[in-house]
Amino acid sequence: MSQMSKQAEPAKHSLVVVASRLPVDRAEGPDGAEEWQQSPGGLVTALEPVMREAGGVWIGWSGDAGPAPGPFEADGLHLIGLGLSEDEVSDYYEGFCNATLWPLYHDVIASPQFHRHWWDAYVTVNQRFAQAAAEQAAPGATVWVHDYQLQLVPRLLRELRNDVRIGFFNHIPFPGYEIFAQLPWRRQVILGLLGADLLGFQRRADATNFLRACRRAVGLTTKGSTVRVGEPGGTREIQAAAFPISIDAASLTEIAQRDEVRKRSREIRQAIGEPSIVLLGVDRLDYTKGILHRLRAYGELVDEGRLGQRVVLIQVASPSRERVEAYQTLRDEVEVIVGRINGQHGELGYAPVDYLHQSFPREEMAALYLTADVMLVTPLRDGMNLVAKEYVATRYDEGGTLVLSEFTGAADELLAGAFLVNPHDIEGLKDTIVRAATANPAEARRRMRSMRRRVREHDVARWAASFLDALGRGPGGGGGPNLGGEPANLAEEPEIS
Ligand code: G6P
Repeated sequence: MSQMSKQAEPAKHSLVVVASRLPVDRAEGPDGAEEWQQSPGGLVTALEPVMREAGGVWIGWSGDAGPAPGPFEADGLHLIGLGLSEDEVSDYYEGFCNATLWPLYHDVIASPQFHRHWWDAYVTVNQRFAQAAAEQAAPGATVWVHDYQLQLVPRLLRELRNDVRIGFFNHIPFPGYEIFAQLPWRRQVILGLLGADLLGFQRRADATNFLRACRRAVGLTTKGSTVRVGEPGGTREIQAAAFPISIDAASLTEIAQRDEVRKRSREIRQAIGEPSIVLLGVDRLDYTKGILHRLRAYGELVDEGRLGQRVVLIQVASPSRERVEAYQTLRDEVEVIVGRINGQHGELGYAPVDYLHQSFPREEMAALYLTADVMLVTPLRDGMNLVAKEYVATRYDEGGTLVLSEFTGAADELLAGAFLVNPHDIEGLKDTIVRAATANPAEARRRMRSMRRRVREHDVARWAASFLDALGRGPGGGGGPNLGGEPANLAEEPEIS
């Protein structure tokens, strides 16, 4: 981990964001030339204002195999595109990130595979990101590293640049120790993360799992949310706490209120033939999302006629990680069950499941959310699930109900308004869908209002501000970009080792 060149180029930026992906996608312009378009992700929306203010830079991968696009600007943002070779896409991205860490961190819903050459690729790519961050950071800069693909970057960067303040945010769950302990490189991963000054997780339970892993895998002492690490220069204290991520609620509400979006919603309802109830699922086609369980429950409800005559489930399943075997198997299984339900219960001009293996622009998504009577967000495990929050932000009309899995980070925040469910319990799932579909309108409205308040008040700007503020305030913090965030929930608890 330490054979990198220590000769950093002249330092440049006071804020450096390091994420697996760039916040832009490669697209073809009108004249056929290549151009970059801002991707719709929430992270870039959250960080754009502070990036602009601080003259920040974003380091990430473009998503294609091949040479690095290098530094460029898009929409006034400074971007550094790093390259991954074909082998690295297969060993680092599809392999270690998405066939080892992803299933392991999502409670082994699929079996994680452990291969030493995948780990080697993970180390190499993490070194590349750390080196790029070291080259871009101004003296004393704030560097914010994101997600499970880059867990070694905090340590590698600290070895290169001890002067910078390092934050890390894990967007996915951090598993219980009994599961995490399976990872042959568990110690290296924990030590990699502990290069940071502040570690952010979606839920308190994720931070607790991480603190336990520090004690068990590395033998460190923790006190409350603080981990103590002995280093050559003395003891360093690292904070690990929950910072639940959110969305740009105001902008989604604004999109949903546009005339053309409301018109589109009416068109969708007409096109599907005015059924009695419209249910909606919106997911990346991923085995963590519980799509098969949902379809099983829905198929039985249609069989039993419990949702009336012409019910429709619109299931958007956007293509994801299509070369990874578990994703290919899932797609086959989903398509078989959709075909079975439609074959058995459809009529000419009517299919109970509208299955869309596609991605859509934000406006079309807003129109779909507005159309849904019941939104089904039923993952088996999910760090947060922003679809649940997007649905709520869209429903300015206070219409619609939300069925939400207990195993999402969003459930911690939306529990007062959502119809919570254990997606493994098919009978419970069926009953909850029926309850949500037939809820008393006044109760449904009260529930939606309470969820909307939460999402409006805890938006993505507040999330970014509270993380960066806590990063700036920690021991040795030089202040950091202050965005007026709330204090982090750093609990006082006894020392444990
Ligand atoms: C999750 C992860 C992100 C990831 C995204 C899409 O939300 O937390 O880090 O970028 O899925 O997955 P992909 O493999 O396409 O980057």
